[in-house]
Amino acid sequence: IITSCTNSVPKQSNTYRYPLQFPEKLDTDQLRASRGSLAIGEEYTLDGLHFNGSLPGPTVHVKKGERFQVQFHNDIGEESIIHWHGMIVPPDMDGHPKDVISEGRYSYDFNINQRAGTYWYHPHPHKITGPQVYRGLAGFFIVTDDEEEALNLPSGKYELPLVIQDRKIDDTGQIYYDPSMPERMMTGYLGEHILVNGIPNPYHEVQPRPYRLRLLNGSNARIYNIAFRNEHLFTVIGSDGGLLPKPVETTELLLAPGERADILVDFSKGFTGKSAELISRKFSISSDGGMMGGMAQLMGQEGPDQGSEFPLMEFRIGNEADSSTSVDLPQQLSNVNFPSRTDAVRKRTIELNMEMMRGHTINGRLFEMLRVDEEITQGDTEIWEFINNSPVPHPMHIHAVQFKVLNRSGNRGLIPTETGWKDTALVMPGERVRVIMTFNAPKGLYVFHCHNLEHEDAGMMANLEIT
Ligand code: C2O
Ligand code: CU
Repeated sequence: IITSCTNSVPKQSNTYRYPLQFPEKLDTDQLRASRGSLAIGEEYTLDGLHFNGSLPGPTVHVKKGERFQVQFHNDIGEESIIHWHGMIVPPDMDGHPKDVISEGRYSYDFNINQRAGTYWYHPHPHKITGPQVYRGLAGFFIVTDDEEEALNLPSGKYELPLVIQDRKIDDTGQIYYDPSMPERMMTGYLGEHILVNGIPNPYHEVQPRPYRLRLLNGSNARIYNIAFRNEHLFTVIGSDGGLLPKPVETTELLLAPGERADILVDFSKGFTGKSAELISRKFSISSDGGMMGGMAQLMGQEGPDQGSEFPLMEFRIGNEADSSTSVDLPQQLSNVNFPSRTDAVRKRTIELNMEMMRGHTINGRLFEMLRVDEEITQGDTEIWEFINNSPVPHPMHIHAVQFKVLNRSGNRGLIPTETGWKDTALVMPGERVRVIMTFNAPKGLYVFHCHNLEHEDAGMMANLEIT
């Protein structure tokens, strides 16, 4: 597969004009009236940052075993480099911030060696990942394989990749990125408008039959608790690293920045009326439902609070389905071999702190481009324990690996997506989360970091070297 990828913006512009009208504030009735249709597969032409003129960026489809080649042409007038989030690729293909280019081309060429899953791509320059992703640079990277194809999951128009992002938009319709000091150093940048595939609170017409939704939280800082307004059950079939061992039914699912969830929703059952409203349900920002989360929202900040309830999008259900409507999900979705605790040769403790004047640190340090923070022997299985001593949530992402969450302190336990492979795990204030993984990626330098992009940009990132 050979594509070309142009990343362009009129120089010195920080914003782009959004083609739609926005409601003044998040008000459910107003939203219903103002909703635009999701326009799956259509592309927008924008003045702002974009990949090939499309927002979100074009969806890449590849199959395990294929070779992926793409030329990244940087025409945005500032440094950038692209990371293939969740993919295990050689270090010079991984978008390490040291590899940024300020103009010209960067050639990507790697083999797809990993299992089917919903991955994604976005820029990864040090200190300016937040604004670049926010201004439009992000897209899906979908990998398929024979194991998954054999399941005959809903596909084509019954399979919807949905990226959820929150944005601030001024009265002239421009998206703007302008975090205050406390947003940079504490909460991250929270938007007032919720966009799905670039459209504010859209609707999409569906048939009364099962659909596969590939959800991606592509927001800089906002966490969603995915649910339906009527507490409808849905089935989680996959997470960051592809299919779960078994399907898991639930009525809600936390999705932090960087995380993906693959879910099946049957619109033929249980929805009264002809509308199914996907929302983010209220949740507690702490390990124990306590008060610690107060700091996750700034006083006087506009837009919905982190953890409050608000609508995401609506599915309008038609009267008839035009093809076979049932999905036969096997009890066992996929054959998964997680490493076992007894394989682990090393345990590392990764402490997350918030320090006055310095911001968020990993083991007391801020990111330095070439300092090796964790040296790992290729092939080793390790257990990492993330300890969040700060008052804000941190979705921790490790490059070059997929891991299994072993356990989490406090009351939350593991959520359905954490029964499968993960590359990003949410660590709430006061929590300890342990993950296990085997480092089989090619030798070299990679990063791990918080996927709250303001935290990452402020230095909440570290290097790992596989030797
Ligand atoms: Cu999605 Cu290092 O990032
Ligand atoms: Cu963080």
